[in-house]
Amino acid sequence: MEISPSIISSNLLELGTQIKECQDAGAGSFHLDIMDGHFVDNITMGPDLVAAIRKGTNLRLDCHLMIERPDRYYKSFINAGADVLLIHYETPIEVINLIKKFQDENIRYGIVINPDTDVKKIYKLIPGSEIVLVMSVFPGFSGQKFIEKSLEKVKALREFIDENNYSTRIEIDGGINNETGKLAVEAGADILVSASYIFKNGINESIKKLKSL
Ligand code: DX5
Ligand code: ZN
Repeated sequence: MEISPSIISSNLLELGTQIKECQDAGAGSFHLDIMDGHFVDNITMGPDLVAAIRKGTNLRLDCHLMIERPDRYYKSFINAGADVLLIHYETPIEVINLIKKFQDENIRYGIVINPDTDVKKIYKLIPGSEIVLVMSVFPGFSGQKFIEKSLEKVKALREFIDENNYSTRIEIDGGINNETGKLAVEAGADILVSASYIFKNGINESIKKLKSL
């Protein structure tokens, strides 16, 4: 099981040390929540922090872009060292056009789906997506309660991906702890994102617990 710590809940003053601790505990990638105060009601980090984190790890960096205009900013995140860009289906631009640009420019990407969006809408976008990210909370803040209904989406995607032999991996983000993480794994998730559970309960123990699910 791949664990992708979301550094939104880390101690930013200790970020370098905490990144190393995550790696030593067996994290498989890092999840960077980019919020612009428009697409969601919160503001977090920009490309400069991504570039600083890039210097601290060789693990895959996924940028979860919760911004209104990913078409304007995606290059800055790639230049900062992001490996995979996670784009919301709900972004108020033509997502399909942005995906075409990513494909032309050989940019690795994934598609993100909100709790209230019908999963069938994203099926056509799965081929070519390295990741499909199911939100199990409404995006904006860490520390929210896991929405159980999102497990149905994970199950449906698992079936769809397996039936078609796609290589897309299923990731889940929001309210993941050792209990909800277990449900997500049983439903067919490949990657667990977690922020508050990891950074508020001891990095090493929590990552090890999640990895063993
Ligand atoms: C929510 C973010 C998540 C979130 C996870 O908008 O995409 O990555 O910070 O936080 P926890 O694990 O605390 O729910
Ligand atoms: Zn996220």
